[in-house]
Amino acid sequence: MKTIHFETIDSTNTYLKNNYQFLDNMTFVSADYQSSGRGRNNRNWKSENGDNLLFSLLIKEESLIKEFKTLSIISAFSLIEVLKEYGIEAKLKWPNDVYVNDRKIAGILLEAVTLNKIECLIIGMGINVNQKEFEGDYLRLPTSIALEYKQDVDLNLFKIMLYATLEDNLKKVRENYDFYKEIVQYDYLKDREVYALIRNEKKKIKVLGIEKDFSLKVEYEGIIDNLESGEISFHI
Ligand code: BTN
Repeated sequence: MKTIHFETIDSTNTYLKNNYQFLDNMTFVSADYQSSGRGRNNRNWKSENGDNLLFSLLIKEESLIKEFKTLSIISAFSLIEVLKEYGIEAKLKWPNDVYVNDRKIAGILLEAVTLNKIECLIIGMGINVNQKEFEGDYLRLPTSIALEYKQDVDLNLFKIMLYATLEDNLKKVRENYDFYKEIVQYDYLKDREVYALIRNEKKKIKVLGIEKDFSLKVEYEGIIDNLESGEISFHI
């Protein structure tokens, strides 16, 4: 991987969107601060200067682009593995978030640049590392590694560990490694009854769990459905 670090940038995802033609596959861009950090569903992603790991990874190779459905899950899984090293038990809230003790610790924004075909994918990840106070309109306040670990962590060391784990796991994706058994252990939504927006309709659903193809099996109104990411958003 090639790395670029900015003290300040609008958004590491936006930077890669605007510059992917000139950059190599697997370029990793991080920043201390983003002035226009972006979350999913057009939300902002706010993060205190220098406290957290904010990065985007550029994917240009066909063998990974075709696995786009699994890439955010594999990225979340990589973080879960690293958090274990700090004694933190995290879960994957399918398909884009990582939770610890029922609080969000990280979110992923996976974007594609498409012309006639997918030119590249951008995996953007915001991980709360040393931030301890969160201001905003949250149903439930987020958490951070420092809050769970009860002390600040070395952000650079954490970045190196995550980077290495992600690189390793993406190598396994290229080799068609089957992550399913490892990943289902961390299924945060399994067996929960939640409200969800499915194809723009609000439904109360029971989550049956992550399937082998990484879709999410749910039950509502007597129907069993397999949802792909993008078809559902949760309110829990
Ligand atoms: C979410 O949970 O809504 C996804 C948040 C993704 C935030 C990261 S921070 C690094 C990268 N750059 C951005 O502008 N967004 C992603």
